[in-house]
Amino acid sequence: MYKIGIIGAGSMGAGIAQVAATAGHEVFVFDSNQTALERAQANLLGSLNKLAEKGKLDDATAKAIFGRTYFVNELAAFGETGLVIEAIVEDLAVKKSVFKELESIVAADCILATNTSSLSVAAIASACQQPGRVLGIHFFNPATLMQLVEVIPAVQTAPGIAKQAKLLIESWGKLVVMAKDTPGFIVNRVARPYYGEALRILEEGIADIATIDWAMTALGGFRMGPFTLMDFIGNDINYTVTETVFQSFFYDPRYKPSFTQKRLSEAGWLGRKTGRGYYDYAEGAQNPVAKQDEELGRVIFARILMMLINEAADALYMRIASRDDIDLAMTKGVNYPKGLLRWADEIGIENCVHMLDALHAEYLEDRYRCSPLLRKMAKSHQTFYGE
Ligand SMILES: NC(=O)c1ccc[n+]([C@@H]2O[C@H](COP(=O)([O-])OP(=O)(O)OC[C@H]3O[C@@H](n4cnc5c(N)ncnc54)[C@H](O)[C@@H]3O)[C@@H](O)[C@H]2O)c1
Repeated sequence: MYKIGIIGAGSMGAGIAQVAATAGHEVFVFDSNQTALERAQANLLGSLNKLAEKGKLDDATAKAIFGRTYFVNELAAFGETGLVIEAIVEDLAVKKSVFKELESIVAADCILATNTSSLSVAAIASACQQPGRVLGIHFFNPATLMQLVEVIPAVQTAPGIAKQAKLLIESWGKLVVMAKDTPGFIVNRVARPYYGEALRILEEGIADIATIDWAMTALGGFRMGPFTLMDFIGNDINYTVTETVFQSFFYDPRYKPSFTQKRLSEAGWLGRKTGRGYYDYAEGAQNPVAKQDEELGRVIFARILMMLINEAADALYMRIASRDDIDLAMTKGVNYPKGLLRWADEIGIENCVHMLDALHAEYLEDRYRCSPLLRKMAKSHQTFYGE
């Protein structure tokens, strides 16, 4: 069984280490910050003890998992690893220098993966002498609980490496989807309109945050409304992802960030973590109450859903991932109530095209352009699932 190396003992690295050790691997965790290493080790012990208390693990297994996770303060300990997953700060220059150093330590057949959310895997791989062994393995937060993992081969990745990584991560009990090395991969790209279109509806004064959240949860079946979700993720983090995706897509207006969110982030109204975001989380605070107007709610829900479907269809059209992987990614990565392409079939592809064209006709903005795939399918009466 491979020995696994994890670089970065922050929230993602620590979670991935726990998953790998639970699957039976010996895991080496390195962080340049000693405090982060100690915190991760204490958290692992706490988390395993909790699982043991709840009866989800027996004591001996919990001890064994802890015993095979080594927290080390030098990369030299990674000499015998078969796979290394990097989960350090989201900075291309720092990641490149770590990959370069790593390659001088590990064996020639060790696979090197990055957990980056927004950087180019090709750019990270370019730091290596053997870029063919590098790929993206993108876990979701918290890695111990979220089932989805995106595997991202770069242009340089050697044939067979992504398949090998997919099989390994599946053996850890995860659901793996394959994505092209493009901004946001699947989930962080296709989900953009959930936030962006909700913000646009708010900015236009069509509805307030509570009404939009109500429409998406009560009428749409989404687990969290967009504003509640943005407050949960953190407005700083959500804004940065949007801005990065926008820049990486060469300023395609479809991904344009919102001033509302930028200002909230600048004000330090980051959401739950600061006690104030779109909502006020102070005890006894007065928050807006949804206007439960079903007609308005249906307009909001249809508009956001159409933009999500359009994004999913375009991701398929641009061959970012397969139909099944796009639907799986959105249901398992962000808990959408249905796969977006299946949802499009249920609504009818022609209806989707009509609704998107109506938005485009109203605003005359490229943001609302209908995916050529939807248009082609509507013309030939095709469906995504052929049912
Ligand atoms: N947090 C998320 O929701 C999430 C989800 C998916 C992917 N990611 C990606 O995972 C990576 C890590 O994110 P995180 O949220 O765990 O970050 P984090 O800030 O919690 O942890 C990063 C850790 O890396 C360490 N570090 C920084 N530079 C280092 C170096 N040169 N060598 C060794 N260790 C170094 C830091 O000390 C810190 O402990 C990023 O690339 C991020 O984009 C994050």
